[in-house]
Amino acid sequence: MKRRQALEKACFLLREQAKEESIAKFLLQYILDENSGKFNYNMDAELEKELENKYFGLIEEHIEKDTPLSHLAGFEYFYNRKFKVNKNVLSPRMETEELIYKILDDFKYCDKKYLKILDLCTGSGIIGITLEKELKIATSITASDISKEALQVARRNAELLQSSVHFIESNLFENIEDKFDVIVSNPPYIPYEDMSTIKKNVLDYDPHLALFAKEEGMFFYKRIIESADKYLEEDGIIYFEIGYNQREKIQDIANNHKFICQIIKDINSKDRIAILSKEK
Ligand SMILES: C[S@@+](CC[C@H](N)C(=O)[O-])C[C@H]1O[C@@H](n2cnc3c(N)ncnc32)[C@H](O)[C@@H]1O
Repeated sequence: MKRRQALEKACFLLREQAKEESIAKFLLQYILDENSGKFNYNMDAELEKELENKYFGLIEEHIEKDTPLSHLAGFEYFYNRKFKVNKNVLSPRMETEELIYKILDDFKYCDKKYLKILDLCTGSGIIGITLEKELKIATSITASDISKEALQVARRNAELLQSSVHFIESNLFENIEDKFDVIVSNPPYIPYEDMSTIKKNVLDYDPHLALFAKEEGMFFYKRIIESADKYLEEDGIIYFEIGYNQREKIQDIANNHKFICQIIKDINSKDRIAILSKEK
């Protein structure tokens, strides 16, 4: 079968099941491991039988089990870099890129020559690694997670992307000893009570350890803010990704601990980022 025919057949199968057809091209390019130029040029080449079987196996898996692309391919793009993912880490989300944009923007014209950053609840390592690559200031970045398995993925990503982020296995601050200029975290924040509203393929493929938090989703924000004095420099800043309906709760916790809290909306006009700094 020619590659073009395989693509047409896959598009047809996906269309029949009301699935996104663009997946067909992504997966074919993925299994051929070719850049876009070569892939488009070779469209009339023969697709080897072994690759054809692998290709339609992935298409079927997506149709039958609703397996997300990141899990079929084993990677996801985040801020234009490829990050490995598996069942032990949350697949990177677009919203989290906005947290990166905001931090980069805030430190574009900063006086500091050096930033010490802690990425708490790092998962696949996307935040820490991306900040190290993108910030124009020298950094020393520590990233931590409670999950050994997630840290294996994060360390592999750091290796593949030639990053020197330092990873620590830690239940929140338990094994952290330093003070930081920036603490950034996208912790689990979905209230357990909301589990029934979450899409099935999220519940099936993202680790629940990465999704859900006690105390109406506030557990991690509370613990981090309560401990911040010990781990944050006097003029330090905390950046959180937050749920779209968590503005008031975060602001209350922040104010109770003498932090000023600014909330930033995402591209869909939903509250998404909380920025906390100490009252002067
Ligand atoms: C929402 S995911 C975020 C992952 C990654 N930072 C991102 O933005 O894609 C939350 C992460 O918190 C980790 N986690 C859960 N409980 C934790 C704890 N008590 N201490 C540290 N990390 C924890 C999970 O293993 C998961 O990797």
